[in-house]
Amino acid sequence: MNTFFISTPIYYVNAKPHLGHAYTTIVADSVNRFHKLQGKETYFLTGTDEHGDKIVQAAEKNKQTPKEYVDIISKLFKDTWPGLEIEYNRFIRTTDPDHIACVQTFLQRVYDNGDIYFGEYGGFYCFGCERFYTEKELQDGLCPDHQTKPEFIQEKNYFFRMSKYLKPLREYIESHPDFIQPERYRNEVLGLLKEDLGDLCISRPKSRLTWGIELPFDKNFVTYVWFDALINYITALGWPDGENFQKFWPNAHHLVAKDILKPHAIFWPTMLMAAGVDLYKGLRVHGYWTVNETKMSKSLGNVVSPMSMKDKYGLSAFRYFLLREMQFGLDASFSEEALVGRLNADLANDLGNLFSRVLTMTNKYFAGEVPEPGSLEKIDEDALELGFNALKNYQDLFPKFQFSKALSSLWELVRHLNKYIDTCAPWSLYKNKETERLKTVIYILLEGMRKIGLHLWPVMPSTSIKMLSQLGVDFDLQKVNLDQETKQWGGLKPGIKVAKKSNLFPRRELKLEKSCETKTEAQKVRKSQKEKNYIEFEDFVKVELKVGKVVKAQKVPKADKLLQVFVDLGENEPRQVVAGLAEYYEPDELIGKQVVVVANLKPRKLRGVLSQGMILAVQAKGKMELLTVSGEVKPGSKVS
Ligand code: ME8
Ligand code: MG
Repeated sequence: MNTFFISTPIYYVNAKPHLGHAYTTIVADSVNRFHKLQGKETYFLTGTDEHGDKIVQAAEKNKQTPKEYVDIISKLFKDTWPGLEIEYNRFIRTTDPDHIACVQTFLQRVYDNGDIYFGEYGGFYCFGCERFYTEKELQDGLCPDHQTKPEFIQEKNYFFRMSKYLKPLREYIESHPDFIQPERYRNEVLGLLKEDLGDLCISRPKSRLTWGIELPFDKNFVTYVWFDALINYITALGWPDGENFQKFWPNAHHLVAKDILKPHAIFWPTMLMAAGVDLYKGLRVHGYWTVNETKMSKSLGNVVSPMSMKDKYGLSAFRYFLLREMQFGLDASFSEEALVGRLNADLANDLGNLFSRVLTMTNKYFAGEVPEPGSLEKIDEDALELGFNALKNYQDLFPKFQFSKALSSLWELVRHLNKYIDTCAPWSLYKNKETERLKTVIYILLEGMRKIGLHLWPVMPSTSIKMLSQLGVDFDLQKVNLDQETKQWGGLKPGIKVAKKSNLFPRRELKLEKSCETKTEAQKVRKSQKEKNYIEFEDFVKVELKVGKVVKAQKVPKADKLLQVFVDLGENEPRQVVAGLAEYYEPDELIGKQVVVVANLKPRKLRGVLSQGMILAVQAKGKMELLTVSGEVKPGSKVS
């Protein structure tokens, strides 16, 4: 089938977008682009989830009406995505009129089919998740996701007869192995289905909550957020009669993290069954980005801002890192060290160098023109074969959401071409006037680079286009034939001019300041009200500042800017602190100096060296002045 549909979750608008949201949305964008490269007509849906208790609570906290509040935060999400080169077809909001109408049509159908009834229920409700938990699902009485105590709620409500569809669902999942993937999540769902999950409460009395979609058959109630939110996936396609629904729904894929597996794998398919709508094609589930082993989440306040990563390290590196670092399905830990590591190794060293070396040689040997290749030797044929295989694997793995493996396969080609340069030594061929051979070698390199650049379009769109244009190629989606790229070479036309030089991925240094936003909720609110960013006195006194004396200092290997400084803080052993002072001080100059150290900073490794604190300094006009005290004090004296 020649269509493809992908959705992200619609995100709650109770906080601004963070790296977790960016990951899912970037993955969706990349997969969508991959299918475009394959010549398919695609539809990519994202948006925001705006009803329910938790939004009302967030709006109240911000002293706004729900409508004022959701308009602002939803726009934050919408405006973030283009900056990350995310190109969706629709940004849906659950407050959109067509969505409200669609939810009501859906509810009415299920009601008319007799699958909605009125009853009473009590249970443990987590407002963070907006769902009831069974006692068994709770961990020590707390919500496993938010680590908060759920509230016991008992009231009269409408219920969806979900239990009726659980057996058919189990049979469907068993006979459709590709429905939920990776396998671990398919198994998890089959496990959940072994228990009696009961029916689903799908309303809230207006006496308690008005911020929702009114039930079409009882105006005293609004629709439960999940029953409302999930339907967005078909609203966007114009269900029931829309042309897009016919076209894209048979190939619909939902992308989510494991936190919302149950609503997508159980609530949604049973809802579809009850409404007489075909099930979606596939659910793809990824793990969490973690920081220090805990899930990155707005409720825990340990979030990384995607825009700050883009600003510091470049968008291509950021997108590449996210796809390369996480094994889809498993958790992955985020750190700027790892990001910079991959940027410098894979992008600057391997890929960036390949481009800059080959373009320089093409200019030097052939005045910047793509040469005509001659007959092939064994080493050339081997390189071509390795290339075809690497690209085949990439093309096979990418649509299976195995991005990390796909990229590592593509990098086999990148690295092989670098080796090919070293083995063929074009500079010797040039010196020995073996021009025919030299032409073939340079051509093979340029053609390999064209294939690599093209295949990277889903991952780093604008950089891919830049790579191709450096090779004199205009990116034209209509003309791409991925299948051919794994069988034929020679796509690059001899005689075309290539760029004079290429600086695709400059090496970057780690820039750790301001990376994590560990602000408390209250601070965030204040900041959003454009007040000054004060910190609480109690927060300030948590910082332990001490004066110490430098007893030893040395360079950190392979890090131009870092010194490993040993400071006597009156403890058993000197503290070892890694500081960005190497550009300003020779190690020996520091010895004997009194410095101010943040003494209770959590130890961390910088370039493999443990740092147990931070030395305070002031950067001023190309100099770095150390903070110190005006007289000699005992090492370890507290700053108060
Ligand atoms: O659940 N790692 O919205 P939400 C990876 N409105 N992905 C993460 C992440 C992390 N640490 N944190 C968040 C909702 N995500 C509902 C969805 S859909 C009909 C309704 C991503 O704002 C990931 O995609 O809590 C996760 O599933 C989603 O954000 C949850 O977003
Ligand atoms: Mg959540």
